[in-house]
Amino acid sequence: MWEPEWYARRTVRIIMVRAAHAAALRRLGIRCAFAWSLSRGAEKKVPGRHTRFRSGRWPHIRAQRKRPGAKAVAHIIVVGNEKGGAGKSTVSMHVATALARMDHRVATLDLDLRQITLGRYLANRRTFLEKEGLDLPTPAYFELPQVDPATVAEGENAMDQRLYAAVAQMDDAADFILIDCPGSHTRLSQVAHSLADTLVTPLNDSFVDFDLLAHVDTDGEEVTGPSVYSEMVWNARQLRAQSGMKPIDWLVLRNRVGSQAMVNKEKMQRVITTLAKRIGFRTAPGFHERVIFRELFPRGLTLLDLRDIGVTQLSMSHVAARQELRDLVKALNLPGVTPDF
Ligand SMILES: Nc1ncnc2c1ncn2[C@@H]1O[C@H](COP(=O)(O)OP(=O)(O)OP(=O)(O)O)[C@@H](O)[C@H]1O
Ligand SMILES: [Mg+2]
Repeated sequence: MWEPEWYARRTVRIIMVRAAHAAALRRLGIRCAFAWSLSRGAEKKVPGRHTRFRSGRWPHIRAQRKRPGAKAVAHIIVVGNEKGGAGKSTVSMHVATALARMDHRVATLDLDLRQITLGRYLANRRTFLEKEGLDLPTPAYFELPQVDPATVAEGENAMDQRLYAAVAQMDDAADFILIDCPGSHTRLSQVAHSLADTLVTPLNDSFVDFDLLAHVDTDGEEVTGPSVYSEMVWNARQLRAQSGMKPIDWLVLRNRVGSQAMVNKEKMQRVITTLAKRIGFRTAPGFHERVIFRELFPRGLTLLDLRDIGVTQLSMSHVAARQELRDLVKALNLPGVTPDF
């Protein structure tokens, strides 16, 4: 079996790098834990309090009330895959909006600092709702705050500090923090993965995309070894364990699945199931290729909002897409969340 050998080899190869990263993360983890314990204790959250943290650039954060009985420490959902265009921002927007619509307080952060797709999606939503005079549940959007370089200790990374500061702010404002990662390997993304309580990895239904998770043989039947992204998640899991944080619940979901039965589709299903057992992730029902997932971006809407903007007749595809989203939210198994849409 390849796993023990691979893990052993990896451990030797990266031990030096990991030691440095582990120390940084430990500091980050301890600081987060400290901030979280503060927010749990003396600084009890009160309804509407998060409005103090309105984003400077897009100030229209909808006041969301705290659900009675909701947990005091925000649950962090990270949506990541180093492959570009896998559907991370689409999944982020739909999951965040679904949670907001179920009356959970949701804070979002986009670590794709160049494209800012999730930030743009939410900005479009606010513009559209304002224009139409509508008030629909909307996740709060946060930006990475600047940190005073003077406060960054020697050996610490300023970007880590910015991420930590954002998480601390969001934790105070939300029941759920959703972080959308860029489609490439960045330090911010790596540290964010280490902070994930739940990691969601959308995957285009293609062996090209699967190659970032694991390598397969020439027939596409046998998994021959893990690849760069699963190595990164494995590192994040190790760092998290070393920092005394609870394990990451990792879900992989197939996206843009074609509706026709194809050999490729079945092979993908088989290798994902095999890999899930080997490297420890759960598989979630994914999304089919549907126009509805991309056409609502300019208005910042999701398919859950259609009825609220006056669409009375949902097509079969809309109904099916809604069911897919419901199945995904159910599969996420988030604390205190029972899909009711
Ligand atoms: N299920 C789907 N059906 C149809 N189109 C989809 C679906 N999911 C995503 N798309 C489209 O695929 C493209 C990539 O999606 P998205 O931007 O969410 O991916 P991403 O992983 O965030 O990309 P990046 O790595 O660049 O951040 C977009 O045009 C989006 O509208
Ligand atoms: Mg994106």
